[in-house]
Amino acid sequence: MESPPPNIARIYDFLLGGKDNYASDREVGGRIAQALPEVHLGVQQQRAVLRRVVEYLTREAGLRQLVDIGSGLPTAENVHQVAQRIDPATRVVYVDNDPVVLTHARALLADNKQTVVVDGDLIKPSALITDQALRAHIDFDQPVGLLLCGILHYVLDEEDPAGVVRTLVDALPSGSYVFIHHLISAGDPDAAQAEAALRQGVGRGQFRTRDQVAAFLDGLDLVDPGVVTVAEWRPDAGTPSLDANPVLRLAAVGVGRKP
Ligand SMILES: C[S@@+](CC[C@H](N)C(=O)[O-])C[C@H]1O[C@@H](n2cnc3c(N)ncnc32)[C@H](O)[C@@H]1O
Repeated sequence: MESPPPNIARIYDFLLGGKDNYASDREVGGRIAQALPEVHLGVQQQRAVLRRVVEYLTREAGLRQLVDIGSGLPTAENVHQVAQRIDPATRVVYVDNDPVVLTHARALLADNKQTVVVDGDLIKPSALITDQALRAHIDFDQPVGLLLCGILHYVLDEEDPAGVVRTLVDALPSGSYVFIHHLISAGDPDAAQAEAALRQGVGRGQFRTRDQVAAFLDGLDLVDPGVVTVAEWRPDAGTPSLDANPVLRLAAVGVGRKP
């Protein structure tokens, strides 16, 4: 069967060791892995920090509503599993614009009343926050945890990522939290090659600096330890060290609380 064009969610699935991908996805993923041989650790740690953030938001910040934009293909330790293990009543909305992701997520979640799946586009934030299914599941008078994990680097500068985040944050009540995971360019040729492979493969990919990522959280109170690498954000026993794993310098993460 002919392979469909490569797509972000399936390339990520391939890099995570999943099976929901085609030859075209593996080709782009292979080029990324050639530029960054430790990329697999990078994507595993992206999932690990997402888990730690969801645990923080539900256990420590006490949130019971999460909106995960760019949720991706279901894998291990999905957001709803982590959050609902802490409190089964936690409501989760998964948003993605990829029909394959939406089909998989709906099949997985058919029996889970606390979790809904919404077809939405991050670069149309006004439509997203007025989506009927989202509004029916999330109470915008109560704090919300907004997860933007591994997605903003697919929003190009000309699509105004800062404006996108602002529109979303403006819609959230005080006491809400925003989590960002973003790929970083620090002038490394290997990161530039990985970015070029994405651009060529899926037409998107814009790595930014740590300061640019921090600026997305302007106006929010940064949760300790601020905007740092994945290895430095509230590490647990299983978190690999940054010194021994330089690939981990290529992503910045931060959580901000809306005052
Ligand atoms: C790399 S995956 C990240 C998955 C998960 N958030 C994680 O960090 O493990 C990025 C996801 O964002 C989705 N995505 C990319 N651009 C999007 C957009 N403009 N609107 C909604 N989803 C988007 C892709 O379809 C993909 O599922």
